Amino acid sequence: MQISTTQNPNPVDDARLAEILANPGFGQFFTDHMFTVEWTPEQGWHDARIEPYGPLTMDPATAVLHYAQETFEGMKAYRHEDGSIWDFRPEENAARMVRSSKRLAFPELPIEEFVQAVDALVEIDQRWVPDAAGEKSLYLRPFMIATEVFLGVRPAQHVTFMVIASPAGAYFKGGVKPVTLWLTEEYTRAGRGGMGAAKTGGNYASSLVAQQEATAHGCDQVVFLDGQDGKYVEELGGMNMYFVFDDGSIVTPATGTILEGITRSSIIELAGKLGHQVEERRFSIDEWREGVESGRIVEIFACGTAAVVTPVGALKWEGGEVAAPASTELTMKVRSALVDIQYGRAEDTFGWMHRIV
Ligand code: PLP
Ligand code: COI
Repeated sequence: MQISTTQNPNPVDDARLAEILANPGFGQFFTDHMFTVEWTPEQGWHDARIEPYGPLTMDPATAVLHYAQETFEGMKAYRHEDGSIWDFRPEENAARMVRSSKRLAFPELPIEEFVQAVDALVEIDQRWVPDAAGEKSLYLRPFMIATEVFLGVRPAQHVTFMVIASPAGAYFKGGVKPVTLWLTEEYTRAGRGGMGAAKTGGNYASSLVAQQEATAHGCDQVVFLDGQDGKYVEELGGMNMYFVFDDGSIVTPATGTILEGITRSSIIELAGKLGHQVEERRFSIDEWREGVESGRIVEIFACGTAAVVTPVGALKWEGGEVAAPASTELTMKVRSALVDIQYGRAEDTFGWMHRIV
């Protein structure tokens, strides 16, 4: 892919950048540039470019604004001690975007081109990658939208793929501490044949009211159950889940309607290396309640790119509550094993890291 570059004539100055990188929060500040490539049936993917970051001008009849034909990814670039910059399994994000794209009736962006686009943006905006102190990183947000101007309901004939980047600190304010979860019994995130396994905006739009319910009950995040039986744990609004048993075995829910996290699949391998067997299977909410109450479940954690690995505390629902499990020991071990690879502090025996700069 040939990428043309227009440098931002007014990049953020060094003093302001230092101020932003000292306390980036999450998703609030954006780098000096953005990547765009467009697709039509006649031309395929074309006009790949890096330009100054800025607002898009859109016709009000642009399809994505009406029917939400959209997919996105979330990944991070990490600065290592020696100044080099790396991302984590970018081909996996590219491959997941291909799967999401198929579900959303989008054209496929080839894996190499996705990786090339992300690399090019990180390279031009490399001064925006924070140093590793405080587990900061540059959060990368590739996304694909239907940009055809047409109100008929059909797959768009003009599609735009973009990458933007945003320096990130901890996703949860207050650092690594157990998150309290709200079990929604009214709302589900995904149904059979639906879009649960795709990373698409609609899934997040539909999670918001449940998240509001969680917040109203003093909880940090919401847990979704399966849409068919209302019985099996799926995932949180933006994270996958893990349950650790007193015999050292680990279960992570698999239902066919969850988002298959790249952190999730990496932890399956990491836990294996730490001597723990991970089973992917259906996991009922009763098993959660009874497991914690009987002491058989000793730890629960959630994982995702933005939130890394986070211990899970109490679970609350309308009229009930189950306490936090006893320990966070393995959670923190898995967390360290993962972030040490990401920040280059441990040997990357899996070949997960991809050097950009
Ligand atoms: N589940 C949902 C709904 C998510 O939004 C995310 C975040 O990307 C995840 C799980 C975790 O996926 P990953 O580890 O690839 O970031
Ligand atoms: C991520 O972890 O990358 C996510 O996409 C979760 C959330 C910010 C949507």
